[in-house]
Amino acid sequence: MIDRIAKYSEEIEKFHITNNDELESFRLQYLSKKGLFAVLFEEFKTLSPDIKKATGQHLNHLKEKAVLKYQELKDKLADSAKEFSGDLTLPSEPLKSGSRHPVSLIRREIVSIFSKIGFTVAEGPEIEDDWHVFSGLNFPQEHPARDMQDTFFIEKNPDILLRTHTSSVQVRVMENTAPPIRKIFPGRVFRNEAISARAHCIFHQIEGLYIDENVSFADLKQTLLFFAREMLGEKTQIRLRPSFFPFTEPSAEMDVSCTICGGAGCNVCKYTGFLEILGCGMVDPNVLEASSIDSKKYTGFAFGMGIERIAMLKYQVNDLRLYFENDVRFINQFNSSY
Ligand code: PHE
Repeated sequence: MIDRIAKYSEEIEKFHITNNDELESFRLQYLSKKGLFAVLFEEFKTLSPDIKKATGQHLNHLKEKAVLKYQELKDKLADSAKEFSGDLTLPSEPLKSGSRHPVSLIRREIVSIFSKIGFTVAEGPEIEDDWHVFSGLNFPQEHPARDMQDTFFIEKNPDILLRTHTSSVQVRVMENTAPPIRKIFPGRVFRNEAISARAHCIFHQIEGLYIDENVSFADLKQTLLFFAREMLGEKTQIRLRPSFFPFTEPSAEMDVSCTICGGAGCNVCKYTGFLEILGCGMVDPNVLEASSIDSKKYTGFAFGMGIERIAMLKYQVNDLRLYFENDVRFINQFNSSY
C-alpha cells in the first residue's frame, strides 16, 4: 500500500486544471464519498495492526496533501478568473455610493455656515469631569439647575460623567485660548432620558462661543439671524425669548418662524407660527473669570443647538429614534452636497 501511496502522491502533485469542471473532477476522483480516499481508508481498516502502524501516517499525509492541493487549485482558478478579459469600451457598472447620515449632513451644513463668518471648529471629550460640564459653567454645587439635565455618572464617581451638553467645550477652549475666540463645537451629548419619539439619551449639539472686546447682545442677535436665514431660508424670522442658563446672563431661547407654514400657524408649530431651536446668551462674567479671562476687558456670547432638532425641521422626520437606528432605508433617502 505504501508504494501505491507514493504513486498517488506524485499523481496529485502533477494534477493540473484549467476550469471548474476539472476542479470538480479532482474532487470527485480523490475527495468525494466514493473517491480514492474513501476506498483507501476502507482498505486500511482491513490491514493487520503492524502494517496499519507503518501505513497510517503515509495515508494521512497523502490525504492532507490532496486537501491542500484542492484548495490551491481552487484559489488559482479564482485568481485567473479575475484577470481581465473584457471589452474596454463597454460602459462601466454603476457604483452604488452610500449617503451621509442626516445628522452628519446638518452638522456639516451648520459648520459651513458659521465658517463663512470666521468660526472655526474645536472638539472636546465625551467623558468629562464635573468642572467642565457644571462647576466651570457657574452651576453651584447642589444647585437645582444641575437637574435641568439628567446626567449619566460613571461608576458611582460623581466627578466623572458623560457630558450633558457641548458647553463643556467652551470651558476647555477658554482655559487654553486667549481671546479673541470665535469657535463652534459640534459633538455628541448624553442625558438620562427615556427614549421616545421626542427624546433620546444620545443626541448631538453644536455650541458657539465668541469672546472679544466689546461683544454685545446685538452681535449675538445678528449672528443668529444670519445663521437662521442661511440654514432655513431668506424669509426666516427669529424671535428671542428671555430664558435662564447658569452660564449666560442675560439668557434667551431663539425661535424661528415655522419652516412648514412660514408663520401662518399649523400643527407642527402648534399654531404659534414659531419653533424653538436654540439656547443662547451673553457669557456670564463668572464663567470668564473661572477660566482666567478678564471679564472687565472681554465680553462674549454663546449659543447651543440640537442637531437632530434642526434635522427634524429641515427633513420633517419627527421621530428621533430613526436617527439612531441606522436603517439604510431611512439613511439612503438623504442626499446633499454636504
Ligand atoms: N447648553 C445649553 C443646553 O444644552 C444650551 C446653551 C448653550 C445655552 C450656550 C446658552 C448658551 O441646553
